[in-house]
Amino acid sequence: MIQLKTKDEIEAIHDSGRILSDLLDSLAGFIEAGMSTWEVDRYCHDFIVKRHGKPACLGYMGFPGSACVSVNNEVIHGIPRKSRIISDGDVVKVDLDCNLKGFISDSARTYLIGNVSDEARRLEEVTRQCFFKGLEKAIVGNRIHDISLAVFNHATRAGFGVMRDYCGHGVGFELHEDPNVPNFVNPMEGNPRLRSGLVICIEPMIHLGTARIRTLNDGWTVVTADSKIGAHYEHTVAVTDDGPRILTIND
Ligand code: MF3
Ligand code: CO
Repeated sequence: MIQLKTKDEIEAIHDSGRILSDLLDSLAGFIEAGMSTWEVDRYCHDFIVKRHGKPACLGYMGFPGSACVSVNNEVIHGIPRKSRIISDGDVVKVDLDCNLKGFISDSARTYLIGNVSDEARRLEEVTRQCFFKGLEKAIVGNRIHDISLAVFNHATRAGFGVMRDYCGHGVGFELHEDPNVPNFVNPMEGNPRLRSGLVICIEPMIHLGTARIRTLNDGWTVVTADSKIGAHYEHTVAVTDDGPRILTIND
């Protein structure tokens, strides 16, 4: 069931999202080679708590971290670990969720650490562009598939693979709400019309190579089956009568 949000509720989700925006900005200057993914998690945890939020993924279905930190061929849901050291040339995805006074926001970015290959740079850029292609379609009267198709076309025309096993989603009152927002047109999924007050995460997960993935024995970390690099870019977005509004930016 899709739960549309009122103007006030959208403002409250935006207040939550500002914390993630500031945190994701500051991570660009924080993450560096030699650091563990656990240190990144600690930084995120403390940042969110200092701003009076709660890390919404901590304990979610048993997830042990305050951030998902995924390196290179790990695309999403990387469990932060003291033993996972970030190296020069790595592609690091940080996916964060914040609960502020019961309102949940969700946002992710990909960080390029030091001397990264041109291919990885291009992947990060195209993944970010995919989000904005999807965003343009997040207007009243369109349907979810319009967003999905825009993301899919941009990624595949650039020669990249699109994650099929995980997708964007409604958000706001809970971390995962209806509707699903796939990054490809999935005929098995509903295709609801976008209405004013819909709040969703648009989150392209794009990789080099094929679209196949597997989950590590830790039960969480999603890696590409061919070990190629993946990228992720995500914002919480409100569909309004005045067009799409990104709620995980601090404006
Ligand atoms: N932020 C993730 C998403 O975009 C949710 C992660 S849930 C976790 O859907 F438990 F894996 F952290
Ligand atoms: Co999400």
